[in-house]
Amino acid sequence: MKFSKHILILAAIFLAGMCSAGVVTENLRCEYLTNPLGIDATSPRLSWIITSPRRGEMQSAYQVLVASSSNLLNEGQGDLWDSGKVASAESSQIVYAGSPLVSRENCYWKVRTWDRDGKAGGWSPVARWSMGLLQPADWSAKWIAPILSNQDTNATLSILHATYEAVAEGQSADVTAVLNSNIKQGRLKMVVNNKTLGVDPAYKVVKHLRVEYEYGGQIIKKEADENQTLMLPAQSSSVPYLRKSFELQSPVQKAVLYVTALGLYEVHINGQRVGDHVLAPDWTDYRKRVRYQTFDVTGLMKTGGNAVAAMLANGWFSGHIGNGGFEFFGEEPAFLAQLEVTYADGHTERIETDDTWKSHASPILSADFMLGENYDSRLEIKGWDKFGLDESKWDGVAVRDESFRQLESQVMPPVREICELNPKSVTKSKSGDWIYDLGQNMVGVVRLKVSAPAGTKITLHHAEMLNPDGTLYTKNLRGAPSIDEYVCKGDGMETWQPRFTFHGFRYVGISGLNGRPQKNAVTGIVIGSDTPRTGEFACSDPRINQLQSNIQWGQRGNYISIPTDCPQRDERLGWMGDAQVFIRTATYNADVAAFFTKWLVDVDDGQSPAGAFSNVSPNTSRDVGGVPAWGDAGVICPWTIYEMYGDKRILEQHLPAMIKSVDYVQSHSDGLIRNKDRGEDFGDWLSIGADTPKDLIGTAYFAYSTHLLAKSCHALGRDAEADKYDKLFADIKTAFNKRYVKADGRIQGNTQCAYAMALKFELLPEDLRPKAAQYLEEDIKAKGNHLSTGFVGVSYLLPVLAEAGKVNIAYGLLLQDTFPSWLFSVKHGATTIWERWDGWTPEKGFQDPGMNSFNHYSLGSCGEFLFGGIGGIQPATPGFKTIQIEPAINNGLTWASASFDSIHGKIVTKWRSYGDQILLEVVVPANTTALVRFPAKDTASITESGEPIEKVAGVKCLEMENGKASFEVGSGTYKFTSLVGQGYRLGAPRQK
Ligand code: BGC
Repeated sequence: MKFSKHILILAAIFLAGMCSAGVVTENLRCEYLTNPLGIDATSPRLSWIITSPRRGEMQSAYQVLVASSSNLLNEGQGDLWDSGKVASAESSQIVYAGSPLVSRENCYWKVRTWDRDGKAGGWSPVARWSMGLLQPADWSAKWIAPILSNQDTNATLSILHATYEAVAEGQSADVTAVLNSNIKQGRLKMVVNNKTLGVDPAYKVVKHLRVEYEYGGQIIKKEADENQTLMLPAQSSSVPYLRKSFELQSPVQKAVLYVTALGLYEVHINGQRVGDHVLAPDWTDYRKRVRYQTFDVTGLMKTGGNAVAAMLANGWFSGHIGNGGFEFFGEEPAFLAQLEVTYADGHTERIETDDTWKSHASPILSADFMLGENYDSRLEIKGWDKFGLDESKWDGVAVRDESFRQLESQVMPPVREICELNPKSVTKSKSGDWIYDLGQNMVGVVRLKVSAPAGTKITLHHAEMLNPDGTLYTKNLRGAPSIDEYVCKGDGMETWQPRFTFHGFRYVGISGLNGRPQKNAVTGIVIGSDTPRTGEFACSDPRINQLQSNIQWGQRGNYISIPTDCPQRDERLGWMGDAQVFIRTATYNADVAAFFTKWLVDVDDGQSPAGAFSNVSPNTSRDVGGVPAWGDAGVICPWTIYEMYGDKRILEQHLPAMIKSVDYVQSHSDGLIRNKDRGEDFGDWLSIGADTPKDLIGTAYFAYSTHLLAKSCHALGRDAEADKYDKLFADIKTAFNKRYVKADGRIQGNTQCAYAMALKFELLPEDLRPKAAQYLEEDIKAKGNHLSTGFVGVSYLLPVLAEAGKVNIAYGLLLQDTFPSWLFSVKHGATTIWERWDGWTPEKGFQDPGMNSFNHYSLGSCGEFLFGGIGGIQPATPGFKTIQIEPAINNGLTWASASFDSIHGKIVTKWRSYGDQILLEVVVPANTTALVRFPAKDTASITESGEPIEKVAGVKCLEMENGKASFEVGSGTYKFTSLVGQGYRLGAPRQK
């Protein structure tokens, strides 16, 4: 009796819970970020996600409250903004429309939503954002740089004799004069190569440089290999400490630190590191803007003595960057910090960088992205970041006028440590080094744990691959030796990891220790811009799962502050072509909206006054730009972010630059054909055995960018411009067809890239599309089911084949594992995407080390087909408010599952095929609808959760066409089964 009473009570509670559960509003974000501090968007955009246990849920209304304190918000008061009940189904890109926001403002917010029946759900958890320093006048801190007395500023440097000579043969050239002419302010920093030295004494032979120089009265000899960096006097890239001690009279209610550097910084308060950013601030075109970070440091403050201290490195500002050499943006780094303290009684005080700060050399003797980091732990200063340190031997700082640089807030997830990898094996190489294999080609640094006598110098070499003899393959690093050195202090177990460098590697060679090191002496610290993971894909073929893993690792390791090409050699640049071919894949794998929001500003910053987008952004190239497929990133990327996140503001913001770029390309064409002024023009970069005419690629991209521009104008309601660019697109199409397409649909060059572009970019008349798809199929078959595209064509291949109904051919290419193919590198043990189809082959071994990266994501742009094709998840309207679900099912796989956290919530598809039966499970998030399409012979053969489909409430049958059934569904989980008709060849036999 008692028992059944309990059951009744429980059931009542459960039912009450069910009824009142209604919609739950959660995952509140502002400008794509969770609780961001110090933003500078004065009308920030808000988003949330709603969930509900029932199918077909929609938001009928919402209310947003924004308050200046959490107390007010708890009392239900939105003193900054009370949107009132807004009848709307929008839950993303909601523009704040409250009182004007001012610098430093704190905003606490919550949302409630009403379900489709008009019933209110509960309030969401509270979220917050704060405003940064919006006006230049908000900054009173001064830029500072150290003055270190141990750097002999009076010592002069002069090169006595320098020869650049072939290693094997006898040829050499005297380069004394060139070196002397490169000395600036008593220092010399240069990469050793034919270009910088202005001579090639032995063509195609490895060379090195011997120098004899005089510095501070001493005569010193130094050697450097070709492509390595020469720095005289040695160690001019040391990392100084900066610090300031101060007293706070009474308890602090709040303390906020605004901080940045021209270079890189790590800042500490009272012995503790502030935040967890790595390599901050993010890389920008420092000539135009510098991003600062905001931290709430209230918890680190003490009444009485305090200290704020920092380390300052060259980084992208004055260190060695790809193609730009050293000191591209400036000669010496500088630091800026403004700590704003509010006492309990309300009065405020600022501690800021000025000429009262102190500086001192740190144990980091040098730090450079390409060279590595050198650390002598015997030079550590105990308490360097604490109050009470004896500062009498510290030097002063110089104040620098950098006020012309625009300061802007960081608007993207920072670079962080993502995870730690344990070694898989340790072996002794024939050179005597201990080689650690981390099992994964990764980007970051080593964490070293050793115990050795004081003064022991440990050297760490990094490599992506091993030579056949088991030694490290480092030739492909070119001018980035990537060598870290640590000198032990000898007091037991010591742990160290470099702070201001990063390497691309799987193998670590360690030398300098006596005897065999412990297995855990080396672990890999993986770093990357911490974009939240949004996509998961798995299927019945483990090789494809490895391919997906390789794509994700490629993205993680190359999205370091900006989208880079590669992380290991002396390049690591924001190559625009790479970024645009991969962006759609990237948006499935991670939430990259904020990451691209920031980078696209760098892209506009790099645009030439005439309108040409640069090759790399931030722009360090001296090329005129406007290169087909590379320059087009400035149009394609904003459009993709709009499509994937429904972000109209990004279109609005970049529209002027997009227009300028299309107009530039038009005025550098002849009769709308791109037969001139294409800058460095890389064509279908790294294609294999198929050359697509470069002017054809140029004209095709001109058309594509124009079309996307027209669509962007339509989306923004700018009708006149939309009409203008629609017309231009039509005219370019006409010119394209006239110049490159024969009456039978053959396209000049007859390459896969040409057909893929023509189909994807909608360049052909309707009647020629099937023909072009047919020629594409024929070419693939003629090559034995192999692809031949390079960076440009590769991302379009699979989607256009599937769209043309050639799913079998698309699967054939994807599952191919002989050369050239995606699975070729997987078959040979790749853990990231290789730069070249033939980076390594059994017959030839390694490709030319001059350009052979093993971590380049571009060819991994097939990733969009895994989610959008095999998983079938695509936006039917921007931001996935309506979703198109149409998995490309084929007997190449017996099952596949994909999930994607869209801005409206998680979308899932899982399919399995048995002979003539398909099971398809679909999860559609609340407040969205989906169009689901899958193979079936007729609607009568379809069930959902065991019920005949026609009887299922909320599933609207649309049509049966070409052996596929279409349905419109609201949110919820659906389990469809169907029987397919003749013509489908599916996987395993049907289960009984
Ligand atoms: C980079 C590429 C880039 C290319 C331009 C290379 O050196 O690594 O990924 O797109 O140059 O063709």
